[in-house]
Amino acid sequence: MVRSLVRETSFGSQQLVQPLFVLHGTDRREPVQSMPGIERLSINHLVEEAGEIAESGVPAVLLFGVPSDKDEAGSSAYDEDGVVQMAVRAIKDAQPELIVITDVCLCAYTSHGHCGVLDDDGTVDNDITLELLAKTAVTHAQAGADMVAPSDMMDGRVGAIRSQLDQEGYSQTPIMAYSAKYASAFYGPFREAAQSSPEEGDRRAYQLDPANVREAIREAKIDEEEGADILMVKPAMPYLDVIRALREESELPIAAYQVSGEYAMIKAAAASGWLDERAVVLESLMAIRRAGAAILITYFAKDVARWL
Ligand code: PBG
Repeated sequence: MVRSLVRETSFGSQQLVQPLFVLHGTDRREPVQSMPGIERLSINHLVEEAGEIAESGVPAVLLFGVPSDKDEAGSSAYDEDGVVQMAVRAIKDAQPELIVITDVCLCAYTSHGHCGVLDDDGTVDNDITLELLAKTAVTHAQAGADMVAPSDMMDGRVGAIRSQLDQEGYSQTPIMAYSAKYASAFYGPFREAAQSSPEEGDRRAYQLDPANVREAIREAKIDEEEGADILMVKPAMPYLDVIRALREESELPIAAYQVSGEYAMIKAAAASGWLDERAVVLESLMAIRRAGAAILITYFAKDVARWL
């Protein structure tokens, strides 16, 4: 048909990334209330899920850990036998072809829920945090992660992680940087899923102001100079202009993260019969592609791969 001949944008399953939440313990499955269809899974169930994802045609997963222990320094984040490290080994063992990307952040591992270690005055200590993030990334690479994705937004994190990975022999492990990560209310359901809400305060000190685009471009340029391989924009739909701006300003591939709140809105409306879930999801992903994203991170990934 002529219509498909002149079509300007397309996408396929090969561009999708499925986020997953991994729980400590065995034989555990916990539905996330605010994200119907999404569950936190212990490693045995996670491996089954990874099998289904691979079979659906989705090439990659993004792993978030829900650890059993939290402390001030987030030490289970960089424990060789932490929940993410064990999960990576188990998935790579069962599904060697599936690309495993790990989220690198401390927020789910610190008792206070901030993305780094706190100083006496309650603000995040950027430099100490950098060392811990780099250590976390190295343990993920050692476990077999194919790519690491720092989401903490500390200054200098990409450079710190890059040099530590290189030093430890992982110069081939790429970094997907959450370059344009906004201080967004759309992360609400995720914080329930990852049990990572800050106990006090918020993340506005280290995440971007939703009012700003140029600031995102500056952050992305810094990440690129520090060695990022892929730049990420998050959330996706409310920030299509930011995806477009980064696409034009950088030669790196752009990833867009359709976050938990975007997922929850579509699910809730569809459950009420107010929206056609499949049509809306496909349209939203097409719009994110059209804006300039090469990689689509979405909780709908497995469903979309089946629909396509
Ligand atoms: C932080 C992190 C967040 C998300 C991914 N990594 C949220 C936050 O800053 O609280 C949000 C993803 C989503 O909402 O789906 N490490």
